[in-house]
Amino acid sequence: MTRVADEGLSKQGEKNYRWARANMGALTMLAEKYSKRKPLEGVRLGVCLHVTKETAVLVDALLGAGAKVSLSGANPLSTQDDVAAYLATRAEVWAWRGQTAKEYDWCLKKVLAFRPTQLVDDGADLHVAAHRDKARRIVGGSEETTTGVVRLKALEAQGKLAYPVIAVNDAKTKYLFDNRYGTGQSTLDGIMRATALLLAGMKVVVVGYGWVGKGVAMRAKGMGARVAVVEVDPVKALEAHLDGFEVSDMEGAARSGRLFITATGQKNVVPYESIREMNDGAILANAGHFDVEIDVKGLLSHAKGVKEVRPHVDEVVLPGRKKVYLVGKGRIANLVAAEGHPPDVMQMSFANQFLAAIRLHKDHGKMQRKVYGVPAQVEDEVARAALASMGVEIGAQTEEQRAYGKSWEQ
Ligand code: ADE
Repeated sequence: MTRVADEGLSKQGEKNYRWARANMGALTMLAEKYSKRKPLEGVRLGVCLHVTKETAVLVDALLGAGAKVSLSGANPLSTQDDVAAYLATRAEVWAWRGQTAKEYDWCLKKVLAFRPTQLVDDGADLHVAAHRDKARRIVGGSEETTTGVVRLKALEAQGKLAYPVIAVNDAKTKYLFDNRYGTGQSTLDGIMRATALLLAGMKVVVVGYGWVGKGVAMRAKGMGARVAVVEVDPVKALEAHLDGFEVSDMEGAARSGRLFITATGQKNVVPYESIREMNDGAILANAGHFDVEIDVKGLLSHAKGVKEVRPHVDEVVLPGRKKVYLVGKGRIANLVAAEGHPPDVMQMSFANQFLAAIRLHKDHGKMQRKVYGVPAQVEDEVARAALASMGVEIGAQTEEQRAYGKSWEQ
């Protein structure tokens, strides 16, 4: 059972999957190592991830380890239809690009109708749907992204988490690389593909200075943009200041920026009142998981006209005839207007997902209804596999150094 845009695209999807796999050596190496024992035999996995060529490599690893998989997309606009078609030849797939909110929810329900015993999610929509559905039969799950972990910790705090969850996002081998270098590169990739404009000399305002904001700001600076940061957390704001960025509040930034990129995971960080203050021609793009960061509703409710001027770029005419441009409808720009993170960074995130699924199957009986981190030894294993895949060799501590590191007398 399956529903994708066009099953005829599967040959192209397979080519993209093969390209990703060739650049995800860490994941494929771990998958090969673990899969000999079929550690996921008997597991029915409900998966809600952006359906990309990189996700196809993870699904391949999960199937190879013996799991049965039902997959839906993690955003109505992020599915790569060719990859969905390819995956539909191997697993149950409920994903196509350009879904309505209703269709998106329908796909989540289809995944739950598969009667999964474990979940893999990005953004926690599937976890939340499972909880509304009373989460029967589900013994554990994992979560890919900051926003999803926030929602799951809220469930845990209220004592309502129905099964143990591994917060893959909180692994260093995930957020230090995926959130920073992955989103840093792919968000600019999406904005550049959509707008085809020069970043050098452009005033870019990055809203939020977590790992994603840091990555976006660093990469924009590297492309020659003049970068300002808006951040309400004093420690992060101080960090941005000492990293050499101009730091201001949204009001101040609104009047001076050309391109605004949100990366906070919060609601309405660019409210309509700020958009109204922006210069004619300002561009708005979002790097966060949900389309809540830019006040798109407020913007459209005041609009005198809206038209698509390029794929993924809507021109919005404001009262007074000023124009602003919205990239990807305010949804996650790297996946809507580009292909998401590159495979060589997703290999680490998805190696963590793969190992989390195995750990949950093996250990769920010993785990509580809590949000768990990723153990240091798994971090080491993933980092070593990634280094090997990149041809980087490192040394090791001597016995003498190990002893010195543990002593207080010396
Ligand atoms: N999230 C960001 N980039 C991604 C990708 N390439 N595949 C799956 N999920 C992603």
